[in-house]
Amino acid sequence: MTNKLKYFIGNWKVFGDFGSLKIIYQIHRFYVKFKKRHIVKNKIILCVPSTLIYFFTKKFKSKFISIGAQNCHHQKMYGSFTGSLSASMLKKVGAKYIILGHSENRSEGDTNRLIKQKIKSALDQKLNVIFCIGETIAEKKEGKTFSVLKKQMRDSIDKKYNSNNIFIAYEPIWSIGTGKIPKVQELKKIFKFIKGEFKKNFKTRSFPIVLYGGSVNDKNIRMFSSISEIDGFLIGGASQSSKKFIDIIKNYYR
Ligand code: 13P
Repeated sequence: MTNKLKYFIGNWKVFGDFGSLKIIYQIHRFYVKFKKRHIVKNKIILCVPSTLIYFFTKKFKSKFISIGAQNCHHQKMYGSFTGSLSASMLKKVGAKYIILGHSENRSEGDTNRLIKQKIKSALDQKLNVIFCIGETIAEKKEGKTFSVLKKQMRDSIDKKYNSNNIFIAYEPIWSIGTGKIPKVQELKKIFKFIKGEFKKNFKTRSFPIVLYGGSVNDKNIRMFSSISEIDGFLIGGASQSSKKFIDIIKNYYR
């Protein structure tokens, strides 16, 4: 069993309403008991729809669970951007973290350049950024995984940014919601590469926190737990159920 700090981060995507507060209670209840039995360091973050951030953070105070957002507009404060939310607005309603560069947002037009501006505005608001990178199946087949990841990082993180508050989430696009996951050896190489590239190119105290995302569930989590380079997980579908999310944590440390 590892004693390194591990992150279990849920990305609820378009899911949840006020009644979903019970999911957070259930995870919290489990976690309080879990912490009594296990001396392990970990952190739970739930990135929920913007409509729920204020409600959850006001209704529920937990030192174990933090609430995050899933995207923001690239402008810092206010402006004529109908339907958008700025990083400062999300921060004010209680978000501590924010997912940026998710492939689902990239597929709707988020470019590396736009993501760079979003990262800047989020960092300026002292939000912790969970920056998603990952290759398509075609890029993987063409052997371009490393060059794609390198470009995504270099084009979206400015050397001047305070990179200590940036987590990288490696999410191969072909793995999201498909049940397909990379092989252990592939993941080890990719994680070493991401950490090395990041440390070499950006202003940071140490190696970055690098998460894996894509079809993580309570069955395959044991396989991931054998890879020490992985600092945590960005979990989509399975984070929308307290049972599945709890089973992922339980099985990780089994
Ligand atoms: P799934 O876990 O549903 O594959 O989604 C992963 C994801 O997109 C997390 O950001």
